[in-house]
Amino acid sequence: MDKRELRKGSLLVIAGVAGVLVVLAVIGLVVVYTGGYNVAATEQHTSFTRWAFDTTLRNSVRNRASGTTAPEGATPEMIAAGGTEYKATCQHCHAGPGVERAEWASGMRPRPPHLAEVADEWKLEEVHWIAKHGIRLTGMPAFGPSHDDRTLWNIALFVKRLPAMTPEEYAATGEPASEGSSHGENAH
Ligand code: HEC
Repeated sequence: MDKRELRKGSLLVIAGVAGVLVVLAVIGLVVVYTGGYNVAATEQHTSFTRWAFDTTLRNSVRNRASGTTAPEGATPEMIAAGGTEYKATCQHCHAGPGVERAEWASGMRPRPPHLAEVADEWKLEEVHWIAKHGIRLTGMPAFGPSHDDRTLWNIALFVKRLPAMTPEEYAATGEPASEGSSHGENAH
């Protein structure tokens, strides 16, 4: 291949890439402006949206949580304090062994998962990071602005214990949620 052919070849590649980018930008603008995308929370996310979101979430949290260090040793007092806080702050969305999430929380998309089922997929530091910073565009709030770091570690320690907890152990750990905060709204 001589020099001229090579230059022609690379110009074609550049033109091709630019063409694809223009088409993608136009598709993006059409989706944004026509209202073609359904934002209703009564619909499930498409499997592509779900995959793209889940993968972004997992990698983002893993990167950011890797710089944090959990406090040494977990005492029963820390876990009990985390349990009290979990029941008051997280249970109405994330349920607990033997306790359903609040009825309204089932109307969220994405639906908040039962943490007893998924906590094993996250490291302690990652649960702490998520509780502190929240997850944008999901309805998962950031509790960093309203809770001190020690409380957030206690909650994370408690969450990591959820998968192995029986309904009786769950009921016995920490103080039950007071009427009017979350307990009153639970679906029975
Ligand atoms: C208003 C409802 C709501 C409250 C309250 C709430 N969360 Fe969430 N949480 C969510 C939603 C929605 C998601 C995102 C689920 C998804 O992406 O599939 C989520 C995701 C999470 C995840 C990641 C789970 C996963 O596998 O997707 C963790 C861990 C978590 N929350 C912990 C907590 C903790 C700890 C608390 C209490 C301090 C809490 N959340 C309070 C709604 C809530």
